[in-house]
Amino acid sequence: MDRYAVIGNPIEHSLSPEIHQTFAKQTGRLMDYVRLLSAPEQFIPKVREFFASGGKGLNVTYPFKQQAFLLVAKYSERAAQAKAVNTLWRLPNGSLYGDNTDGIGLVRDISINRGMCLKNKTILILGAGGAVRGILGPLLAELPAQITVANRTLEKTQQLAQEFAIKIILGPNFFGSRDEKYDVIINCTPVPLRNHLVTSATELFYEINYQHVHDDGFGMLVEQAAESFWLWHGVRPNTVPLQVLRFK
Ligand code: ATR
Repeated sequence: MDRYAVIGNPIEHSLSPEIHQTFAKQTGRLMDYVRLLSAPEQFIPKVREFFASGGKGLNVTYPFKQQAFLLVAKYSERAAQAKAVNTLWRLPNGSLYGDNTDGIGLVRDISINRGMCLKNKTILILGAGGAVRGILGPLLAELPAQITVANRTLEKTQQLAQEFAIKIILGPNFFGSRDEKYDVIINCTPVPLRNHLVTSATELFYEINYQHVHDDGFGMLVEQAAESFWLWHGVRPNTVPLQVLRFK
């Protein structure tokens, strides 16, 4: 049976196996999809071993997406923008290819499942970690009026501003700034900031981290998984049966 997996640390909470198995059933496939826990120093050998023993495709999650980017021989344009990959497979010559489906997953969740067009919207992103790297390119491609990034650590935001067309807010304003009005706020930190930042102008406050199927981040997870599934199997699964769990 074809083998797939998601690798990360921690990994036991990951819902990717259930999501990919739902897609497999839907499209008439039989496959294995397991969770792989890796210590930081074991990441590269584990990935190599997975593919050397016949593994077909690997999803990469926290905290290994940037390491995975450095490991692959070739990558997509969107992975190059993010400098992070979450989807790996082997090319016919045996080398590894990496793609990043996080950003398109977020954009599809907002635009299709929530029915919100991001064109001309003002967007505030909280945080400047690996997840933000993955989503900035696809968000900018939707032609928002402006993307502002607010983060605790100045250096990370400055680095992002060199690579992407964003405006930055520095740490001291992070929690308190309600001076500017944003249509969309996307929280990419683990800190619960909704009550500090939502104003009457906020059309959408989106938490990308998830704990439960009712969380926004679950919607993004399902959509990024669907994109990975399509890259691996050449079939686009229907995400609606999983998305309805969220709005129940
Ligand atoms: P991810 O892959 O989810 O992006 P990450 O790379 O560890 O994870 O990034 C987490 C983000 O949340 C970072 O931007 C981090 O801020 P710093 O860049 O200053 O480290 C932010 N974050 C984490 N804990 C935070 C806290 N207690 N207060 C404010 N920001 C926090």
